[in-house]
Amino acid sequence: MSVVVLDFGSQYTQLIARRLRELRAFSLLLPGTAPWEEIAAHRPQAIVLSGSPFSATSPDAPRPDPRVLTSGLPLLGICYGMHVLALAHGGEVVPGRSHEYGRAFLSHRGDGVLAGLPQPLEVWMSHGDAVADAPPGWEVLGSTPECPIAALASPDGRTVGLQFHPEVTHTPRGSEVLAAFLDRAGVSRTWTPENVAEGLVDEVRSRALGSRVLLAASGGVDSSVLALLLVRAGVDHAALFVDSGLLREGEREEVEGALRALGVSLHVVEAADRFLRALRGIRDPEEKRRAIGATFIEVFRERAVALGPFRFLAQGTLYPDVIESGGVAGSATIKSHHNVGGLPADLGFELLEPLRLLFKDEVREVGRVLGLPEGIRLRHPFPGPGLAVRVLGEVTPEALALLRRVDREFVSALREEGLYGKVWQALAVLLPVRTVGVTGDGRRYGHVVALRAVTSLDGMTADWARLPPEFLDRVASRITRRVPEVTRVVYDITGKPPATIEWE
Ligand code: XMP
Repeated sequence: MSVVVLDFGSQYTQLIARRLRELRAFSLLLPGTAPWEEIAAHRPQAIVLSGSPFSATSPDAPRPDPRVLTSGLPLLGICYGMHVLALAHGGEVVPGRSHEYGRAFLSHRGDGVLAGLPQPLEVWMSHGDAVADAPPGWEVLGSTPECPIAALASPDGRTVGLQFHPEVTHTPRGSEVLAAFLDRAGVSRTWTPENVAEGLVDEVRSRALGSRVLLAASGGVDSSVLALLLVRAGVDHAALFVDSGLLREGEREEVEGALRALGVSLHVVEAADRFLRALRGIRDPEEKRRAIGATFIEVFRERAVALGPFRFLAQGTLYPDVIESGGVAGSATIKSHHNVGGLPADLGFELLEPLRLLFKDEVREVGRVLGLPEGIRLRHPFPGPGLAVRVLGEVTPEALALLRRVDREFVSALREEGLYGKVWQALAVLLPVRTVGVTGDGRRYGHVVALRAVTSLDGMTADWARLPPEFLDRVASRITRRVPEVTRVVYDITGKPPATIEWE
């Protein structure tokens, strides 16, 4: 049972799926033009048609399979999706009539999916086309000054068109609109973390019980949750944790302690020297990644062979990875960039990817159900190449040690002031330049570190975090006091795009 979200290319499509899941409805994304057979295979109880950069009146616009429109299932069309519904039922859509973008106020009748909501309702608009004539028999539920037909319902009220975007936070009551649609559509709301965890344990058990499974544990939440799933499923496994010497302070000890205590069969491979040797003399970021990737595979392969044989390799592929790689139709390949922790195809493993339909926040929730300690469950993402992409220029033991101390001060300060959980990721970067500073005893030529903290939903886009200036002030003095080799601390105020989250 699911709600299928047909993706016509709106920047908000993933958000629709996330919001529906927050409402405990299991949503899946499929390409807008997916054939009916593929949609039906997911046993949808309702279908959402997303927005799109296309105009529904254009002959080149992507169209849903006509059987979507005649399926009898409740449909929700958002923006472009609404226009598709209106056209299909004999309404009229006029291109470029309105260029409404941003906040708008919807006057509405207070019924259908808008029952009980404030009058007028604050909504977020982003469109050029508009419905000029509703299909015969359909009801206009609401309008804005710019857009006379901004919400529509079919005669039985189960199919709905919205010109505004209920999925974005700028429509503050948008989730209630979506919830009302789900209720009227009779969609089951069983997607709870407990049910999801149980389903994952069952899936792992039915696929892998009786076989041996190898897992690359990184200390991050995804691979830790995977490891716990294997434990709960009673599957014979080995979790390999490669200590590359590029980790943050105390990370290895924390991961070792936590996972072993939960019954994970953890094998730590001490490989710092090999990684440092492989990185010697390299300054180019991509070359660093390649050197680290190659070393990781070498080390992993040796140990896997020694501990083997294994039938499965468990990987923490997440839904955004599946969507990103164009695999929404079912095939899961991972972006190589995000897979430095990942693996030699020629080892001949079958892949076990139980998290492939989950968003990161859902993995964290499953982690909570499985008893993963908060320190790991709520940990910020950390790149496979570790601190090597945060020491700009050549990676040396001295530079790593210095960066580790700075990182410790920054992260501890964030935690102490209750800010750690408010950002997606926070990091310190050691720059390859020196700068003049002055202390009591005179001028010094010291290091510069950059601090970066970002907010994000999935790491694909990000905004720099507006940490309070007083906090930044305290953290800069703390770092320069406790790490006196640093004479200057700067804060990165660039979004992604155009910058990336990491500096290399
Ligand atoms: P960027 O820097 O591309 O990062 O904006 C997006 C997210 O991915 C992480 N990241 C990596 N993860 N291997 C990884 O496993 C990598 O080479 C890598 N580079 C970036 C980054 O920390 C952020 O969460």
